[in-house]
Amino acid sequence: MRNPKDFFKPMAIGAPEPAREIPFRPSRMIHFFDPSNPKMAAKVPSIAAKCDVILGNLEDAVQVDKKTEAREGFVKIAKENDFGDCQLWTRVNSLDSPWFLDDVWQIVGEVGDKVDVIMVPKVEGPWDIHYVDRLLAQLEARAGVKKPILVHAILETALGVANVEEIAGASPRMQGLSLGPADLAASRRMKTTRVGGGHPGYLVRQDPDPDNPDAPRATAQQDLWHYTIARMVDACVANGIFAYYGPFGDIRDTLACEDQFRNAFLLGCVGAWSLHPVQIDIAKKVFSPPVDEVLWAKKVIEEMGDGSGAVMIDGKMQDDATYKQCQVMVGLARMLAEKDADLKAAYQF
Ligand code: GLV
Ligand code: MG
Repeated sequence: MRNPKDFFKPMAIGAPEPAREIPFRPSRMIHFFDPSNPKMAAKVPSIAAKCDVILGNLEDAVQVDKKTEAREGFVKIAKENDFGDCQLWTRVNSLDSPWFLDDVWQIVGEVGDKVDVIMVPKVEGPWDIHYVDRLLAQLEARAGVKKPILVHAILETALGVANVEEIAGASPRMQGLSLGPADLAASRRMKTTRVGGGHPGYLVRQDPDPDNPDAPRATAQQDLWHYTIARMVDACVANGIFAYYGPFGDIRDTLACEDQFRNAFLLGCVGAWSLHPVQIDIAKKVFSPPVDEVLWAKKVIEEMGDGSGAVMIDGKMQDDATYKQCQVMVGLARMLAEKDADLKAAYQF
């Protein structure tokens, strides 16, 4: 067990001091692009202008014979562009792959000061994060990187879920976790063939009517991801980091994508991945708190004063706990309003 006093010491001589807190930065959508695809690469500056986070993907969805091109493409894009207030992330290949070491070596070495967060897939336990932590420190020191690169882990194996609390607290570099429903489904031996979202077979059914046992019985589809998202959110918040929903693969089903994103938002996630430009707007809409809720929350805060006691507002009981919920809503709205003038006007700040 590492001495708690050393937790915030750099893991290599010359590496930057680890961050004491992970600052909240808007990250409603983590927009994925394939840096080996010249058409996508050319669109990066215009897409970054409307995103909170843009991520160069080097892992799954990049063909094996394009891995080097993707890595080099990412480095070039990072060097040649100024991303303004859009964060630049990359998803590297998994720790057991033949590409991980070259990915981090080249990226930290050449553009370590431009990359905010490295997303590490298929993290199974704190040991994976400890390895990445030390390696990044060595590479940061070697390249003279000034600010520590943060780490985001994808929760996409059964073992990873079993160890989620330890993963979330494994290093001061930990920025957040994303649910990876596609790999997680495979790892858990779930009987699905989709990338996220619901499944019509996962349902509960009303009891039969004893007087009419053959009458149709109502069913309600259940949420396959509820348990994992809720567990991930608790692990993240308990460790001062952020939770995200991952990919929604049915690009044409914008309605179900919005539902999936909203479930994650309501459960405590701060953003989701977007795999196609159409999902950027969905994420922006869903992960910006609704205007009527923000105005209501502002009203509760105003009327509650110091938050103590219980008052009735429009027939609803308010106390310390609702006051705190309202503060979460208004706090998020205020931070997003700083970035987005339309939201600022709508929220009336
Ligand atoms: C994401 O990487 C997933 O496997 O869902
Ligand atoms: Mg995956």
